[in-house]
Amino acid sequence: MSRIVYVNGDYVPEEDAKISVFDRGFLMADGVYEVTSVLDSKLIDFAGHAARLERSLSELDMAAPVTTDALREIFRELVARNNLVEGMIYLQVTRGAPNDRDFAFPDPDEVPSTIVAFSQSKPGLADNPVAKIGQKVISIEDIRWGRRDIKTVQLLYPSMGKMMAKAAGADDAWMVEDGHVTEGTSNNAYIVKGGKIITRQLSTDILHGITRAAILRFARESQMVVEERSFSIEEAQNADEAFFTSASAFVMPVVEIDGVQLADGKPGPVAARLREIYLDESRKTAE
Ligand code: PDD
Repeated sequence: MSRIVYVNGDYVPEEDAKISVFDRGFLMADGVYEVTSVLDSKLIDFAGHAARLERSLSELDMAAPVTTDALREIFRELVARNNLVEGMIYLQVTRGAPNDRDFAFPDPDEVPSTIVAFSQSKPGLADNPVAKIGQKVISIEDIRWGRRDIKTVQLLYPSMGKMMAKAAGADDAWMVEDGHVTEGTSNNAYIVKGGKIITRQLSTDILHGITRAAILRFARESQMVVEERSFSIEEAQNADEAFFTSASAFVMPVVEIDGVQLADGKPGPVAARLREIYLDESRKTAE
């Protein structure tokens, strides 16, 4: 049975889900997206993702195509129609499809935004065995644009970064600007030193991760010390632990950076504990 996809108000089989060749998401990467994980057929941190979507849209002067309540219903409908138990809902909103290519934004009263959402089934997402062994990352220069706080679909450089990591025999890449780690290609980066959790402060340099916000809240509630500041690759290589967070990976330990093994080369206790707390707590508030 083919997957049911949501396209501009309709639920259609994926082979019938089509948008215009003039869509600005396709021509200009003029679009934003959200990835929301699903556990036990429920949405994890939906409110956080909906709030960030609203912010991304408003920063780009794009109208919200649906209300937050309507979006929740669309996500739930996709979960139900696709019998999704564990996985993700991918949502993309673009500035729509004018009837030609033009750099200028179209009049929003004439060109409605495009909204597409689909489910991705990932059985075993929560019990991912990779979390028990950790990942290897390489560092690459961060050459992305200056508004990384907006979750746009301009993902060419992050895709290249993942390919560079693969070519180097690693799993992912952490991006570095002015000697400091900004974030991972599709996640936020952390180190742990002397029991302290260190992660880059929020600014336009990084995406304001929804998982990051939850993890820092849970860490503080568990009396862990959190320091929001930049760190270098060298500091990370000398840390007790490192990890990254995202809606699809939750908390993922990092055991090697640029070929240098961290501590004993095994995932550390802080990352393991945070992963456990995150999964427990976010399941409780899932909707
Ligand atoms: N990526 N930083 C970047 C550059 C990201 O692309 C992501 C998410 C994050 C983590 O944000 P969150 O915790 O809200 O997922 C940080 C998603 C998962 C993706 O592109 O698939």
